[in-house]
This record gives sequence, structure tokens and C-alpha cells, in this order.
Amino acid sequence: MNRFIIGQASEIEEKRARVVRILDTEIAIFKLTGGELRAIENLCPHKNGKLSEGIVCDHHVYCPLHDWKIDLNDGLVQAPDEGCVKSYHVEVEETTGNIILYVESKEPTRAS
Ligand code: FES
Repeated sequence: MNRFIIGQASEIEEKRARVVRILDTEIAIFKLTGGELRAIENLCPHKNGKLSEGIVCDHHVYCPLHDWKIDLNDGLVQAPDEGCVKSYHVEVEETTGNIILYVESKEPTRAS
């Protein structure tokens, strides 16, 4: 498991997302109302909509293209649609306010 520092939690507004590219995967880090963070792949399983541009409501995001509803806790598409987006563990380091994103990888790599 690789650990990436991807900025400060204070830099993301509530109900907004920051996008990072790691190992050729675009990951969207969302800040929920209240400040908790969630991270999922930035790619809708329907037709590749950018989920980072969707509307956040509670712990769900609505895809900006066709409104599929995706749970930010586990990446599951909500009924009546079906599918799943990869989700990632993300946390805020209490002492520094840094956002730490955990991504599985066999090779050491860098965030961009
Ligand atoms: S691309 Fe996301 S709902 Fe169609």
C-alpha cells in the first residue's frame, strides 16, 4: 500500500472534489458536508463521466452526465442502476491537516 500526501484538507470546499492522477488512475477526493473525506475513481461505470464534477448530496455523488447515484463510502452504484467504482482509503493527518490517500501498488510511485 502506498501513501500519498495530496495537499491540505482545508483546500477542498465542502461538497467539492480534488482530482489527482496516480498510476494512470484518476482519483477524486470529495469533502462531505461536515468535513469528512471520501475517495473514488473519477470515472463513472456507465459512460465514463467525471464524477468529480457531479453533485454531492450526503455521502453520494450524482454523475454529471446521466445522474447515476454513487455511494462515496464504497463506490457502489445505487439502484435502479448497477455497477461499482473503485474506492480508496483517505484520511486527514491530525497534526498537519494533510490529506493522506492510500493506493495499492507493487511499484513505488509519485502522485501528480
Ligand atoms: S456517464 Fe455517469 S451516468 Fe452516464
